[in-house]
Amino acid sequence: MVNNLHKKYRPLFQIPENWIYFDGNSLGPLQKTIIKKVSNMISNEWGEQIIKGWNKSNWMTQPDSVGNIIAKLIGADKNSVTVGDTLAIKLFQAISGALQVSKKTGFVLSDESNFPSDLYIANSYLKEKNLSEVKLVNKTKIEDELQKGKISILMLTQVDYRTGELYDLKKINNIAKKMGVITVWDFAHSIGALPLNVREDGVDFAVGCTYKYLCGGPGSPAFIYVNPKYIDKINPIIAGWLGHENPFNFDLNYKPARDIKRFRIGTPPVIQMSALEEALKIWDNVDINLIRKEAQLLTSLFIDNINDLKFDMKLISPRHSDQRGSQVAYVTKNAYEKMQALIDFGVIGDYREPNIMRFGFNPLYNSEEDIIKAIEILNKILKDNLWKNKKYSKRKLVT
Ligand SMILES: Cc1ncc(COP(=O)(O)O)c(C=O)c1O
Repeated sequence: MVNNLHKKYRPLFQIPENWIYFDGNSLGPLQKTIIKKVSNMISNEWGEQIIKGWNKSNWMTQPDSVGNIIAKLIGADKNSVTVGDTLAIKLFQAISGALQVSKKTGFVLSDESNFPSDLYIANSYLKEKNLSEVKLVNKTKIEDELQKGKISILMLTQVDYRTGELYDLKKINNIAKKMGVITVWDFAHSIGALPLNVREDGVDFAVGCTYKYLCGGPGSPAFIYVNPKYIDKINPIIAGWLGHENPFNFDLNYKPARDIKRFRIGTPPVIQMSALEEALKIWDNVDINLIRKEAQLLTSLFIDNINDLKFDMKLISPRHSDQRGSQVAYVTKNAYEKMQALIDFGVIGDYREPNIMRFGFNPLYNSEEDIIKAIEILNKILKDNLWKNKKYSKRKLVT
């Protein structure tokens, strides 16, 4: 049934023994080779080369070379992706760029369950420009709204951060294109989990983070894809020196680089970049189509098993695996306490408002056995009311 990719790949990861890790949709685990790579970078590059590292160890070109590795994962042309900063900043660049290349006036459209940060960022920029706030509709209304013709930009997160619900990117992007709407996709929960092809699907802008399914480490840099037809048409709103055509000319006038480098801003996070570069090596061998297929089986198995046990937990993820990403979520009373108890017993998922227990799956290290064991533990926690222990109700800063 399940392909058992984990047999080959799980040993490459450092996951504490007795943990069942279902939170790779929030932060992917460490690949063991990263320890050596980063340690070498620190000792032999930073330690031995200090300033020379920028040239000798190619630190300065990493945002673009790592960008080209990411480009392959999203089906983008070479030199159309750069890496750096956080997803929030890359989204800001995408929205401000989209407004510049849009030929239409009209709303920025999004859905009311989008990740709040994306909406905060877009609205802060729209407010500064004296434009109307993002128009928010239910996911089911996106296609209708696009066809009404009052939309200039469509900004969506492909996989819902809570429910895992998946947009049919090809279909929606096509409607947007027909209506002359510029598209901005957030791939935070897509990259490393789903086959993506921005070139074939005609995506205009895409952004994403690298610490979830790409396992680049906490705070690893984000990426931006800009459709090559727009790259030299956009005047970067955050015009940093490393986006300049020739940063080391130190011109007083900003002249953006002619290529994707214009979406760079400042000094890249070299240590994080080296961890990410190492983390990405796994994709030389892994077929994303297999990952997707197996993740569908794993999430279905999880849902079916929970269903059989008739817990007081309501599935809020789509029932059909074609319609969800690699995560599953349930609404239940005292979800926070139940999740804390699960974590205490070694099943690591997370909690999201309101009353949502969220479980992420990555076939690189999750298995059928993980699911069976986790559900046994969940059963015990619920049947014996173990979650009622007071220690599980104390709210932590990160949930
Ligand atoms: C869908 C989505 N968009 C944006 C973000 C924000 O990312 P960052 O904090 O790296 O800027 C996240 C973070 O988890 C996310 O899940």
